[in-house]
Amino acid sequence: MSNQIQAIKGTQDVLPPYGDALRILENTLLELARNRGYSEIRTPVFEATELFSRGVGGTSDIVQKEMYTFMDKGGRSLTLRPEGTAGVVRALLERGLFNEAMPQKLSYIISCYRYEKPQAGRYREFRQFGAECFGASSPAADGELIALVSAIFAALALPIRLEINSIGCPKCRPDYHRALKEYFVKHAENLCRTCQERLERNPLRILDCKSPICGGVAQNAPKGLDYLCKECEVHFSGLQDFLQALSIEYTVNPRIVRGLDYYTKTVFEFITDAIGAQGTVCGGGRYDGLVEELGGGSLPAIGFAMGLERLELLLQASGKKPPIPAPCTLYIVPMGDAATKYAASLCEKLRSSGVHAQFDLMVRSVKAQMKYAGKIGAAYTAVLGGDEMSAGKVIIKRMSDGERFELGLEGFVEEILRISG
Ligand code: HAM
Repeated sequence: MSNQIQAIKGTQDVLPPYGDALRILENTLLELARNRGYSEIRTPVFEATELFSRGVGGTSDIVQKEMYTFMDKGGRSLTLRPEGTAGVVRALLERGLFNEAMPQKLSYIISCYRYEKPQAGRYREFRQFGAECFGASSPAADGELIALVSAIFAALALPIRLEINSIGCPKCRPDYHRALKEYFVKHAENLCRTCQERLERNPLRILDCKSPICGGVAQNAPKGLDYLCKECEVHFSGLQDFLQALSIEYTVNPRIVRGLDYYTKTVFEFITDAIGAQGTVCGGGRYDGLVEELGGGSLPAIGFAMGLERLELLLQASGKKPPIPAPCTLYIVPMGDAATKYAASLCEKLRSSGVHAQFDLMVRSVKAQMKYAGKIGAAYTAVLGGDEMSAGKVIIKRMSDGERFELGLEGFVEEILRISG
């Protein structure tokens, strides 16, 4: 055991049959997004480091402390994606998607990498389901995107609360930054070292600091909503009208600022208290300046990402499990070499008609095979030997109650489809 290699801290293995259940869950999410016009995009796991330092932003914790960055053999600095939005914007620009009809709605399921201190709900490798909508600047786009997240939680019957805020735009934010700076300078000696640095570079980040002392100081800090320009104010009230029209409950929380630098105007989080300290299951917002920041033209955008491990924790905490697909329908127990070959071809026929069928691969005794069929949860078994093959009939055993009945090998697939409904 001593020289056995262990998984890296902060990573997880998904074991069967849970992996199948997760795949069904992921398909449900993608399907709900597809119903609203979101089409799946896939981008690389690693990108040029500069994409994230420019995209996610130099003052974010992600870029400052959490990226898995390495030099490749060609001497380029590469980074494992800490989030999905920057890569999607890079692809949009590089592949000319911005020339397509707008809005462009893109969804994804990806793995992300952040060097954070692992704990329940916080990992170094984690998965996100995300959606990004490009081209639409109206509050209707914000409302529709938030409605997608609400629909997901409703479809999974999960309780959650929505908190929204507006953090303004490049026009009004400098005023707010100034007010924040003036306020925090007065309390500078109480701030942690990181926040003292943030004071100079981006005082907004102090509002997001995890230290309870900085949190206490931030309680009485000026609120961004009091500094919004007319355009941001109208946008924010337009979003609220939209949410009300869709009967989506929300609260305005001026403390929500989000940990990434690209946001403008709307920011939002879906939060639960049921899974411990890492209760933000989903976060997102508008990022009207990111496409330009990454070298494109002016293109408004809004998106979100949902942490899938946190979604799973919430499912567990709510006593729900992602549905596990039905196990094996028919397990064929062959006796001897010829019967094994016959069983193999019978299984292929069943499988091509969508039946989950298996047969013995281990040359085991009938008893051991029956035991295995029970362990994998097979609904029916059929013992197949020379006699059955020559008679053209097999005895089927229903495993739930031991009931046995005969089926002809002629028209066998149709019969199995009929009995397994
Ligand atoms: P984010 O808030 O950094 O936003 O991450 C989104 C979600 O990913 C979080 O709410 C959380 O559920 C999950 N998450 C983040 N870090 C971890 C971790 N270490 N372990 C487990 N789960 C984690 C973004 O990533 C933005 N790209 C969202 C977005 C898309 N904004 C606009 N478009």
